[in-house]
Amino acid sequence: MSRTLVTCALPYANGPVHIGHLAGVYVPADIYVRYLRMRGRDVLYVCGSDEHGVPITIKAREQGCTPQDIVDRYHRMIKDSFTGLGINFDIYGRTSSAVHAEGASEFFRKLYDEGKFVTRESEQYYDPEAKTFLADRYIVGTCPRCGNENAYGDQCEKCGSTLSPEELINPRSKLSGAAPVKKKTTHWYLPLQDYEKWISEWILDGHKEWRTNVYGQVKSWLDGGLQPRAVTRDLDWGVPVPVEGAEGKVLYVWFDAPIGYISNTRELLPQSWEKWWKSEDTRLIHFIGKDNIVFHCIVFPSMLKAYGDGYILPDNVPANEFLNLEGDKISTSRGWAVWAHEYLEDFPGKEDVMRYTLTANAPQTADNDFSWKDFQARNNSELVAIFGNFVNRAVVLTHKYFGGKVPACGNLEDADREVLAEIPALKESMEKNLEAFRFREALRDAMGMARAGNKYISDTEPWKVAKTDMERTGTILNICLQLCADLAVAFEPFTPFAAERLRRMLGVTLFAGSDHRVGEAVTVNTYKEGEGRALHTVSGEVPAPAPGEIRLDWELLGRPQILPAGHSIGEAELLFAKIEDDAIDAQLRKLDEARARIEAARKAEEARKVAPLKDECTFEDFEKMDIRTATVLEAERVPKTDKLLKLSIDTGVDRRVIVSGIAEFYSPEDMVGKQICILANLKPRVIKGIESRGMILMAKQADGTMRFVTPAEVLNNGSQIG
Ligand code: MF3
Ligand code: ZN
Repeated sequence: MSRTLVTCALPYANGPVHIGHLAGVYVPADIYVRYLRMRGRDVLYVCGSDEHGVPITIKAREQGCTPQDIVDRYHRMIKDSFTGLGINFDIYGRTSSAVHAEGASEFFRKLYDEGKFVTRESEQYYDPEAKTFLADRYIVGTCPRCGNENAYGDQCEKCGSTLSPEELINPRSKLSGAAPVKKKTTHWYLPLQDYEKWISEWILDGHKEWRTNVYGQVKSWLDGGLQPRAVTRDLDWGVPVPVEGAEGKVLYVWFDAPIGYISNTRELLPQSWEKWWKSEDTRLIHFIGKDNIVFHCIVFPSMLKAYGDGYILPDNVPANEFLNLEGDKISTSRGWAVWAHEYLEDFPGKEDVMRYTLTANAPQTADNDFSWKDFQARNNSELVAIFGNFVNRAVVLTHKYFGGKVPACGNLEDADREVLAEIPALKESMEKNLEAFRFREALRDAMGMARAGNKYISDTEPWKVAKTDMERTGTILNICLQLCADLAVAFEPFTPFAAERLRRMLGVTLFAGSDHRVGEAVTVNTYKEGEGRALHTVSGEVPAPAPGEIRLDWELLGRPQILPAGHSIGEAELLFAKIEDDAIDAQLRKLDEARARIEAARKAEEARKVAPLKDECTFEDFEKMDIRTATVLEAERVPKTDKLLKLSIDTGVDRRVIVSGIAEFYSPEDMVGKQICILANLKPRVIKGIESRGMILMAKQADGTMRFVTPAEVLNNGSQIG
């Protein structure tokens, strides 16, 4: 029997997950898994926290705690967010676990023993005070491109340039502030160039069906030529390098993290994990964001190839582009995001709305944008007005006219046949789209079914027909209820909470694929309704249905008469509720506050910036300048200019006129009576017809504003400064 192993990129446990993560990786993966499970496919769904890497150590240092404290906190938080959104992995493990340390060490050790690595000595930056090697992130300095003084050794967050520590001007250690020195160190490298040809054949020749963004990125990496890639680091947080002479070294996070997929599988299934990783009958699918493509299509596969032992390769890597938020790039460090845990708190019971919006706007082929107005519109005019409205009318009218029992289906009219014919066609399209990872399109198909139902009930108006023809009313409502049952299956992958509410209303359950015969001993992914809405993997016999139990499954979707006449349905429940403006306004205010914080931080950063030093000058150069104290006696604007003031000045030596470009910063009244400093021997210039003799010394701040310079106490005019 073939099986599918679905992995989701392991999120870094150094911050909460946000809607960008959800839209790019976790919601699409969850849709896919739910769909496969409904079809009775054997699926394993694996994720976990990625708990190593330098940023976690930096965060710990900033907060005065240990890296373990950081990952403990975020692991819990992230895990709860996923559960809250109905994303239920079979296992959500962590790379700080013992199973993983053992697995990752063993992996390294085998490659090491078999000579699959090369070693290289290189010069790395070292902090002579803290006595430790410095990861690129631990080195800060001035960006050679934009002048940002706090650029990191790997990246400038201001201008977005990718940097190397060598490029930084005035590099300093984040640990001690000391200037880093170069020191020799030895690391292990995986010679990726040896795998180039093999990857090219495997992906470029063999997987032309992959998404163009994925295929294109792989192609451009290969065209550029692969280089040996370091798999170890000088760092004290991570899986220790398990060989002698590697003290103070750990596995590079991007070496250990993907092995985490395997470790987590082993943790869940210590006896049977290998069939998920080493059997040709397993299809491996990696859900990731676009920044992870190279690791999942080139590095990790090369690691597995080097390891050998029958490890399979991914069958597909459906990577998404990025989601923006209200027009701006989502950024954890800047605090521009909608966080999953906050969403769940602010919108209890509306997990589906976020899932729905993120799918409808999924950044599948290009970056896309999330906006709260769109979120509200998707809820109010799609989920409520179409899907919810249709179901509500069907269920309420069935109670009103038929005592809550499915009425018999009489003779079919054209309108009936037409709407019924739409469902199998949409189902087929939905299947194709889901199998090809086109989740937006699949959602459109499901919504197409709801739209068809809603239009049908509006057109046939059973509430009017009921006044004259109860049999016809029964037929219409019978069809509406069959459509509702279809929706209870079709929406399960997208809006599982509502789909479950709908099944409860219809008095039905959902069951994994009809391939599984009652009484057959199988491992089957099935659903237990009402049990925390979780999906359960059960081993054993498929239980017989309870008396009167109607089990829906994917195969039944679109078939005639899934709900038999006479079946009792439950009370109407609200499938979706309208989202009012005040809830949206509250979110927009939150974002305004975030914007204000980001702007303030930017300003503060800006204000810290100082102009670079000018070229050296000699003492003689300086001596030439006659700088003195003086007092402003009169001041007026120079007519027809915005920037100029005409100042009459007592220099102690004489009384003279200086024209100065300070009207933007000072009014004439501000200046009168003030003691200032002037360059007294500047060659006179005629400005706007006025002869100006000298210049006022001004201090220019980072934001461009200028203030005049004044002695700390009032001095005699004409005192020389130097
Ligand atoms: N933590 C990485 C990220 O968020 C993803 C790791 S995926 C794995 O970009 F394959 F390495 F596990
Ligand atoms: Zn820069």
